[in-house]
Amino acid sequence: TKKSIGIDLGGTNIACALVEDGKLLHKVSIPTRAKEGKEYVFNAIFEAIESILAQTNTSKEEVEGIGIGVPGLVDIDRGVVKLAPNLFWEHVPVKEIIEKKFKLPVAVDNDANAAALGEVLNGAGKGNNDVVCITIGTGIGSGLIINGKIHHGLNGGAGEFGHVTVKEDGPLCNCGNQGCLETLTSATAIANEGMKILKASKTSILAQFVTEGQPLGAKEVFLAAEKGDKECKEVIEQACKSLGMALANVVNLLNPQQIIVGGGVSHAGDALFRPLTKWINHYSLDILNKDLSVDPAQLGNDAGIVGAAGLIN
Ligand code: BGC
Ligand code: NA
Ligand code: ZN
Repeated sequence: TKKSIGIDLGGTNIACALVEDGKLLHKVSIPTRAKEGKEYVFNAIFEAIESILAQTNTSKEEVEGIGIGVPGLVDIDRGVVKLAPNLFWEHVPVKEIIEKKFKLPVAVDNDANAAALGEVLNGAGKGNNDVVCITIGTGIGSGLIINGKIHHGLNGGAGEFGHVTVKEDGPLCNCGNQGCLETLTSATAIANEGMKILKASKTSILAQFVTEGQPLGAKEVFLAAEKGDKECKEVIEQACKSLGMALANVVNLLNPQQIIVGGGVSHAGDALFRPLTKWINHYSLDILNKDLSVDPAQLGNDAGIVGAAGLIN
């Protein structure tokens, strides 16, 4: 088979790799810096692709195409991103822009859809037909695999799981609504809660995990919770409860055989999966959760790249 380029355009990082048979040959990761504007982001993508081709001695002719997963709603036929809340994008013709630059076929889909595809092709969901794959990072996304295929819905927006409402009058979301799941359980949300804890008390256990000059992340909040920081424990418990409740609704709605959890926050391991499974089982029908498995993404942060590359062909 031919090689293709897979790109996972995230709210925080752009990860890009040359992929062959679902395997990464060479990967480059760079910050997205969406606030610098679209042009900045596209130039970063162009440079990443060029550097991968150069470093692997690959000519454009050897590449079948470029697949890209974008954190928003995608019109997959036209390759237009209709809305990407965390990039502040509306109606961006991604396919056209990248095709014009490289003169290669370009396929665009939602980032979480791409990750879901990667996981059923080559990861934790290999061979499974009814899978819900969620990614928890800057935002929260999901890819719904129904009867073995990605379900897109009428406007390409099926699986916009991060924007289901879980709290009336909750925090304001980049989508314009309040109390969306991603305002409570994303890496960004957990880090924001951590920041509040730090401000209130410089002597908290959390303070011990802060590295000078480095932004506080969800990871530090999880670590402090494990070390016994009461407030951090509360934040994690609440985040897992909201997510578990929302996923229980999905279980009752779709009766999936598997829920795969990926994205940065999934690296928290048992500290996430234990409470999460508890709340999913608590809030969903027993008949529907008894054969359900809840698993970490196997391709980790590479799922989106593998899936994006898989959009070509
Ligand atoms: C976007 C989704 C995306 C998710 C994860 C959400 O804010 O609306 O389309 O999949 O973030 O990046
Ligand atoms: Na999706
Ligand atoms: Zn929202």
